[in-house]
Amino acid sequence: MELTRGDSLRRVLRAVSLILASTVLSEVVSAAAATTRADFPEGFVFGAGTSAYQVEGAWAEDGKKASVWDTFTHNGYSIDHATGDVAADQYHKYKEDVKLMHDMGLDAYRFSIAWSRLIPDGRGAVNPKGLEYYNNLINELLSYGIQPHATIYHFDLPQALQDEYNGLLSPRIIDDFTAYADVCFSSFGDRVQHWTTVNEPNIEPIGGYDQGYLPPRRCSYPFGFDAVPCTGGNSTTEPYIVAHHLLLAHASAVSLYKRKYQAEQRGQIGLTLLAYWYESETEKPEDREAAARANDFSIGWFMHPLVYGDYPPVMRRNVGSRLPELTPDESARVRGSFDFVGINQYGAILVEADLSQLKRELRDYYGDTAAKFVTPPFQSSREQLRSREAPWGLSKMLEHLRTKYRNPPVVIYENGVGHEPDPSGEFMYDDEFRAHFLQVYIEAALSSIRNGSDVRGYFVWSFLDVFEILFAYRFRFGLYGVDFGDEQRTRYARSSARWYASFLHGGELRPVATSGDRAGFYSMMDEQAPGPGRKSPCWQWQIESTPDRGKGDCIRVGEPISGGSERLQETVAARLLGRSSGLDSIWCPGLSIE
Ligand SMILES: *[C@@H]1O[C@H](CO)[C@@H](O)[C@H](O)[C@H]1NC(C)=O
Ligand SMILES: *[C@@H]1O[C@H](CO)[C@@H](O)[C@H](O)[C@H]1NC(C)=O
Repeated sequence: MELTRGDSLRRVLRAVSLILASTVLSEVVSAAAATTRADFPEGFVFGAGTSAYQVEGAWAEDGKKASVWDTFTHNGYSIDHATGDVAADQYHKYKEDVKLMHDMGLDAYRFSIAWSRLIPDGRGAVNPKGLEYYNNLINELLSYGIQPHATIYHFDLPQALQDEYNGLLSPRIIDDFTAYADVCFSSFGDRVQHWTTVNEPNIEPIGGYDQGYLPPRRCSYPFGFDAVPCTGGNSTTEPYIVAHHLLLAHASAVSLYKRKYQAEQRGQIGLTLLAYWYESETEKPEDREAAARANDFSIGWFMHPLVYGDYPPVMRRNVGSRLPELTPDESARVRGSFDFVGINQYGAILVEADLSQLKRELRDYYGDTAAKFVTPPFQSSREQLRSREAPWGLSKMLEHLRTKYRNPPVVIYENGVGHEPDPSGEFMYDDEFRAHFLQVYIEAALSSIRNGSDVRGYFVWSFLDVFEILFAYRFRFGLYGVDFGDEQRTRYARSSARWYASFLHGGELRPVATSGDRAGFYSMMDEQAPGPGRKSPCWQWQIESTPDRGKGDCIRVGEPISGGSERLQETVAARLLGRSSGLDSIWCPGLSIE
């Protein structure tokens, strides 16, 4: 594709006027809004994160054995049959990556330990090479003054435990997890002071045991997601059992840490929850109740037992005997078993009531929630990422944690936004939309802190492009891009990496766009198949963020772009051309694309 009717003079003039306009605008606004990191409380950390399966590669190297994710991807169940066999190859490139983190000015790096790299069979012998790798990574981070924030379990259960006793479905997981955590504390705890036991135990049971689209792919008719053929499992019961075991495993590891290590090692331990905010689509009381119910079923599933010692009352009512009981002993162990709560926050989801679900005999988690998701929940692929800059979702979640769960210390461990890579493989250097997205969330976090929330840190997902759990390599979240087509997995800085670095080195957050011209950077395109009334494929594009929300006309190869504001057209044109949306690729009305 290239520009066919270049009018370079016009392009230059237009570029010059844009530079002038944006310089003037940013000076005016930045005089008023000058947030810097100095506005955050003492000790607040800014970081970025990844997880082992998604970034390390070296899936069978140096004694590592398979996890359920290796099995899942090797069986071709991931999108595009992609795997994390190499991923971003951080196993071999950690030194280079830590140097990039240092250059960026990160205070902290969030990573996870691959259970089957450290203890290949899930239980028993420790793999010396695995031990060495994490020691090297941790020491490298510390040599630059970067805090290691380690997650002990991030979805990648050893396949050996899955084979032996069905993994998370068996209470045997509790002891094996605790023994594994013990190895982590005793090996790394002299240097790691920030521990997350489990990542997102409030979504893993749904993907893996209700809808069955994630490992270990269990579900039962009619609850499987899309065309997943269910081959075992029970969507009405297993998600609750698995979550129960994860909760008890978490509490057991925390209890061990507090008993055996904390006094000496002086670290903090918690767990990390997926923390979408559920908001009522309407003002109707039944819809507002549905939103409250959805929050109880998602964040409350874990927060309620952690703070009050039992599952939320509405879960007891709607799930009934399918919801496991906490014995008085377990309840006491679970209650208060955290120093902080990690949240992964990407925005808000709108819901309405659907009470008819409760009349059905067989119900899964979503049926028990009795809510209809107006914007689709977690599992829906593309829609999810068209999201929706909704920093108010973060504000409301933090407010909810403050008022309903006694204001726990919170670390925002994930926040970020994805984009589709250019199909030609061209790098996308300019991700203004990402800097904008992150900025409005950082500002929302600061407002919440000023309002009394005890937020201790903020981490971008992700430090660099990774194998995404839901999207493999179809969506990229990285501040740094990774060239997955190149054996070397070359890294390159996106503009958001420079933007974050500038903030972390003391610079001001740039002003939040308020005019239509400077907002609405977030654009996505769907390729539409040729169909009735369409002679050739065309690209539909739309902008989701306000106030410039809108759809453009269908774009056909060889025809000019139309619909939407000029700024939005420029963004689309730059993306279609596979170039950055910098000044050299500004689209002028009347140009066409081939
Ligand atoms: C799932 O478990 C429930 C409750 O024990 C039971 O009624 C139902 O028949 C089970 N479904 C399958 C597919 O096994
Ligand atoms: C601040 O707290 C008040 C009172 O709880 C609440 O109404 C308001 O929405 C909060 N604002 C933010 C930004 O969280």
